[in-house]
Amino acid sequence: MLKFIIISDTHLVPDNENCNGLDSFERLNLAIESINNDHPDAEFCIHAGDITDRGDIESYERFKKIIPKLKIPIYLTIGNHDNRNNFKKVFNEKYSDENGFIQKTIDIKDQRIIILDTFDKNLLGEGKLCEIRLKWLKNHIQQNNELPTTIIMHHHVAKIKSPYIDLIALENPDEFFNTVKTHSNIRHIISGHVHISSTTFQNNIPHTTIGGSHFTHSVKNFFTEFNYSLSELKKMKENNQINNNMIKEMSDTYDNIVILEGPSQYGVVLSDNFSTTIHFHNYIEKYKRLPQSETKLEYYS
Ligand SMILES: [Fe+2]
Ligand SMILES: [Fe+2]
Repeated sequence: MLKFIIISDTHLVPDNENCNGLDSFERLNLAIESINNDHPDAEFCIHAGDITDRGDIESYERFKKIIPKLKIPIYLTIGNHDNRNNFKKVFNEKYSDENGFIQKTIDIKDQRIIILDTFDKNLLGEGKLCEIRLKWLKNHIQQNNELPTTIIMHHHVAKIKSPYIDLIALENPDEFFNTVKTHSNIRHIISGHVHISSTTFQNNIPHTTIGGSHFTHSVKNFFTEFNYSLSELKKMKENNQINNNMIKEMSDTYDNIVILEGPSQYGVVLSDNFSTTIHFHNYIEKYKRLPQSETKLEYYS
């Protein structure tokens, strides 16, 4: 059986700074201690992106300094809060593919893990797979097409059913699904980004989002009556027919969305010939509500 860990959304900031009122470095430290103590038998750990909060070099240096403390190997990708150029100034090409994207395929124990770089260009939440990455994905999907394959990527591609959050899902979900549908055995797609733990079944593939290392949400007041498919929502956004302000106007609960300091969690993936299972390991069990002033939903994930 293959066992590996997924951490996400550590949102590191420079020394002596907090992020949204939380000590994100200490929280990562707790995650590492928990993995070392409780899962030393895992083959490796994957960071699913938003390593830093602002993509600055100092935060990557802090990350580089702390990860040797982790006793198992780590693989990385980046999220919308990262900066690929600054990441490479610190890590060079250590985590890059042949085109310079922070992505990788791992074949192990008769299974394939594909880590995708969905970083686009800004901190406002969006992420996209460009032509080059879609082609790379297609090639890696088509080699050993029958191998059970799990995809790890920062941005979610399954509808969370909160339009606030689905506005910042992957920008081109149709292109992604058209590529992966050529594979006969996609076991699971696992993402970070949304800071919520959720599971969805969409396009005949199970999806999981890991709550991650930073703040999370109570799902109370999160949903609206607005009905949409993810690709419809993305098309509306592209045509300027929808934005966050319009969604706020549809709902009288937006101002009461509850943002919590925890729990913080990582995923423990157990995968064998028959099935893939994800357990959620909470390593910070704190639920205090954060002041609204510490977070802006438009900017949060
Ligand atoms: Fe994110
Ligand atoms: Fe995040």
